[in-house]
Formats: sequence, C-alpha cells, structure tokens
Amino acid sequence: MSESLDFQTVAKVGSIPEGEGRAFPVNGQLIAVFLRDGAYFAINDACPHMGASLSAGYLDGTEVICPWHAWRFCVTDGLWLDNPKSKVRTESFEVRIVDDEIQVSLRAKPPASLDAMPT
Ligand code: FES
Repeated sequence: MSESLDFQTVAKVGSIPEGEGRAFPVNGQLIAVFLRDGAYFAINDACPHMGASLSAGYLDGTEVICPWHAWRFCVTDGLWLDNPKSKVRTESFEVRIVDDEIQVSLRAKPPASLDAMPT
C-alpha cells in the first residue's frame, strides 16, 4: 500500500466544531476525529470499556471523557488517562489536511493489550 493510499478523506475542514468530536467510518470501523486548538486528532470511536462512542464525549483539553462511565482518554495518542502507568491505550491514527479535506490514515498505531483493564 503506498503512502497516499494510507489516508482516506473523512470530512471537510469546518465540519467539526472546535472542541468537539465526530465519528466517521474508515475501513469498516468508526474513527473519532476531534478538533482542539486548530489541530485534528483521531482515535478509535468505540470506548474499550463497553463500546460507547467517544466522539460524543466531552473534550477537556486533549482529554476526551467517555459519555457512559467517564473513563478518560488522550486524543493525541489514545492513552487511558485514568491509569497512565498501565500503558493501556486505544488505537490512535494519523490525521492530515489536504486542501480542505480532513484525512485519516488507515494504518493504526498498534494498540497495547487491554487485558489489564477493569470491567
Ligand atoms: S463505555 Fe466508556 S467508560 Fe464505560
């Protein structure tokens, strides 16, 4: 797969309000894309706890708070912030802007094991 094919357009610039997230289908899964201080970030939309949509969560700085049980994740790298020493994270993705298009890489950074996460 060439580098250009790694990225897929998900939305136009301006379609995600500052300080909010939106979910977009990319390669059969929903990706949450957030806009914070003019920069875009993308993580897996499904919360690793019980699957809530993280794009619907409250964005506090670069932390998104899950709307169901308030677990917190960093939108820059997917790290689970409630226990950062665990090194648990959800998938995060590269984002780029080409002209007026928001593009997300289809090549996710490999997630750490979620075995240690409480239920
Ligand atoms: S589903 Fe996200 S914290 Fe429970």
